[in-house]
Amino acid sequence: MPRRLLKWSITTTLLLISETSASNVQRATSTSNPIPFSPGFDVQAVLALATSLPSHSWEYGTASEALLELFDAPHAVFGSDPFPVPTIQPSNSPSLTYAKEKIVIADPPNGLDDGDGAVGDPASLGVSAVLLGQTIPSYLQAAANEASYVINDAPKWPNGAISHRAQYAELWADFVYMAPPFLAYFGVATQNVTALRVAVEQCQLYSQALTANTTTGTATPPSSHSASAQGLWIHILGPASPDPGLWSTGNAWAAAGTMRVLATLVKAPSSLFTGKGGLPNEAWRQQSIVSLVRVISAILDGAIRQQRDQGLLRNYLDDPSWFGETSGSTLLASVAYRLSTLSLAHGSFAAQLARVNVHGYINFAESIRRTLGSSGHISSNGTATPAINPLNWGDHTPFTSGSPEGQNFVILLYAAWRDCVKAGVPGCRA
Ligand SMILES: *[C@@H]1O[C@H](CO)[C@@H](O)[C@H](O)[C@H]1NC(C)=O
Ligand SMILES: *[C@@H]1O[C@H](CO)[C@@H](O)[C@H](O)[C@H]1NC(C)=O
Ligand SMILES: *[C@@H]1O[C@H](CO)[C@@H](O)[C@H](O)[C@H]1NC(C)=O
Repeated sequence: MPRRLLKWSITTTLLLISETSASNVQRATSTSNPIPFSPGFDVQAVLALATSLPSHSWEYGTASEALLELFDAPHAVFGSDPFPVPTIQPSNSPSLTYAKEKIVIADPPNGLDDGDGAVGDPASLGVSAVLLGQTIPSYLQAAANEASYVINDAPKWPNGAISHRAQYAELWADFVYMAPPFLAYFGVATQNVTALRVAVEQCQLYSQALTANTTTGTATPPSSHSASAQGLWIHILGPASPDPGLWSTGNAWAAAGTMRVLATLVKAPSSLFTGKGGLPNEAWRQQSIVSLVRVISAILDGAIRQQRDQGLLRNYLDDPSWFGETSGSTLLASVAYRLSTLSLAHGSFAAQLARVNVHGYINFAESIRRTLGSSGHISSNGTATPAINPLNWGDHTPFTSGSPEGQNFVILLYAAWRDCVKAGVPGCRA
């Protein structure tokens, strides 16, 4: 058993003990059995690589979120008890233990880790910083400084979308998973409804700027796209690294980030929406839920319409020259589970959620999960394969040695499937 897993087994045991003795410290306990069902592959093996492979800020942020959803499910934004932000001792949480090891507090934009010129990537550790900040105030201050930089100082696109790059305005679909979920969470955590509003608006502005133009004529991906690609996003708009293709992982980052913002918005306490002085009220919340569900559904619907390769979405979704790969497929499947589960639990609260195409989304997600469990897509050492090279989205050689982000997408899919089964969503089967 790898050393890390051994450590987690002990952590889990301690958590079980602390459930009875320390309930006054932790409002609710962590998931007592985080891996109750077998998805058809070895989750522990995937997890070992999901935590050992990351070496960049966004990978750390994604791994921290995956660990939170897996081990502290009630307190993640998809859980039953995210707000008010709980006080969790870092040693009681694999996610917070991990994030505390990775976060390096400095000046924004590198306020939580070195982002190598990115605005969004260091911000991906922001939710962890807020949670750590409940016991160690310097982390909360670092989160506030990072949020302030992203909202007030980073470059902006002409439509108001915040740049993913710090030195010039450039929009990357990836940004939507990194910064808006943090800004939304920070906003609810600190009762700063303005930050929550910015998070919602950024998802909308990104959707406006990156949703692909489609043609009814002959499409030649990556530069033009057919009508069946309607609703999907291009990867990058800007001067330095433009990418007009419909990158599968990019669409997944966008849908999954918007999904976290949506869950945060739905779960925020109603006391936040006073409407005082022109600030958001409950009507704004309802309209925003409608809008975010549309953003997510447009991406899911577009992806589901595409022809797959060996059961997986292609790396560029509408380009038949590309191989089907695990990264984009699994993260999008996790979103399909999350949106369906949220719609079942909160459909009476928001009409748009009640209209979600649960049947179609669960069919899609279950088919991706079953594909992963077959044909050796999770190799014996837990590697999800074939993935796209995470540092070179144009690399036609299937990446088989373990994508740091791709491994975490499988954990996100597992946690989303587990919660979908537990919630009794029709079609989610263990
Ligand atoms: C809300 O957070 C943003 C970002 O940190 C900050 O600029 C703003 O001043 C905050 N607003 C309030 C009312 O605290
Ligand atoms: C779609 O076309 C409009 C008008 O030419 C252009 O401004 C916009 O940037 C295009 N959007 C994308 C995502 O390429
Ligand atoms: C896992 O196996 C793959 C081949 O399937 C190999 O490329 C990779 O290096 C292995 N990873 C580890 C951590 O041993």
